Amino acid sequence: MTAVPVQRGLEDVVALESKICFIDGKQGRLIYEGYDIRELAERSTFEEVAYLLWYGRLPTEAQLEELTERLRQLRAVPEGVIETLHDLPTGTTPMDALRTAVSALASFEPEEGRPGATSIGGAQRLVAVLPAIISEFDRRRRGRSALPERPDLSHAANVLYLLTGREGSEMDVRAMDVALILHADHELNASTFAARVTASTLSDLYSAITSAIGALKGPLHGGANERVMELLRAIQTVDRVEPVVQEKLARHERIMGFGHRVYKVEDPRATILRTWSRRIGEEKGDLRWYDLLQKLCEVVHREKGLYPNVDLFSGSVYSLLGIPDDLFTPLFAVSRVSGWTAHVLEEYADLRLIRPTARYTGPTDLPYVPLDRRA
Ligand code: ACO
Repeated sequence: MTAVPVQRGLEDVVALESKICFIDGKQGRLIYEGYDIRELAERSTFEEVAYLLWYGRLPTEAQLEELTERLRQLRAVPEGVIETLHDLPTGTTPMDALRTAVSALASFEPEEGRPGATSIGGAQRLVAVLPAIISEFDRRRRGRSALPERPDLSHAANVLYLLTGREGSEMDVRAMDVALILHADHELNASTFAARVTASTLSDLYSAITSAIGALKGPLHGGANERVMELLRAIQTVDRVEPVVQEKLARHERIMGFGHRVYKVEDPRATILRTWSRRIGEEKGDLRWYDLLQKLCEVVHREKGLYPNVDLFSGSVYSLLGIPDDLFTPLFAVSRVSGWTAHVLEEYADLRLIRPTARYTGPTDLPYVPLDRRA
């Protein structure tokens, strides 16, 4: 019997059909439902993109107004979830808190998460409520009270307000909107796959999103941008980039924010965020991070031939907007939940249990040794 080759990490395995997102890894293009990410980042808002991912078409003015209003109405965190967050031990990370809160939400709102037609309501609920959950947790751990609701703010402005406690400038809000658009979906990345696997068992939407948050947390996925900022803070000055990178590579360590399973050229999201890192840096009169990142790109490309991914520049933008490092990955979830939920809805609409196989490499036919005779 010829053994089927194992694709470690499921690399290049086509696991399902989807019309939500297309990545051209050779050309460095990213498409949501037919639209190039560069145009969406230039011209649309996060609310429009969420609509696009859920319904497969851009909204009319009336549809956008309706969705925007609906998201505004769904922002409040249920009291029971707030209590759950407050019961978590000191030192709980924001990603752990977010995962627990979404899981708890399933108990408080079982109907919204039910597979099938009602799940679109659950999708909207999750997109609307995630920023407030993170804010609630973050402010509480800093001994601050919850912020009053601001129904006048757009989704991006509200995210910025909830995570920093301040209304940003017009440019700050646009930077946040662009970051949310760029992170909204990315085909079958690890967290989206985790969500689809859970949904494919006909489990509820909130369970699928809880799985996704767990997968996003890892430093090889959504956790990389926080590590990039750690690295930049350790490097401090442009002249130290070269020696620090050389030391890391000599120890066979990975440089966070570089490399990608699918892109063989620069990640188009990194290209857009590079511009925003400079723009926001110029606006704040602080190009420290941008300069370090540019040098980092030069050295890592020369030494390893690697290109930056979305996580390289995002942290510098968030930092300048006043967002604490350990909220970067939760913020990724705030955006990606739109894509996760779109994928879960697609999964429910054409459901097939996702259940691959493994090649067994252990022994068979071992004689059973009774417990009292084992060495
Ligand atoms: N720094 C140094 N070397 C790297 C890096 C990196 N960032 N990325 C890949 N390599 C090297 C590997 O060491 C390996 O070298 P080898 O063949 O000599 O052992 C080679 O490139 C191939 O690496 P793989 O891990 O096989 O590539 P894979 O496709 O599995 O990795 C991944 C993709 C996980 C993103 C990887 O590039 C990485 O670890 N990057 C750093 C973490 C990161 O930035 N994650 C964010 C990704 S984007 C996102 O999820 C939102």
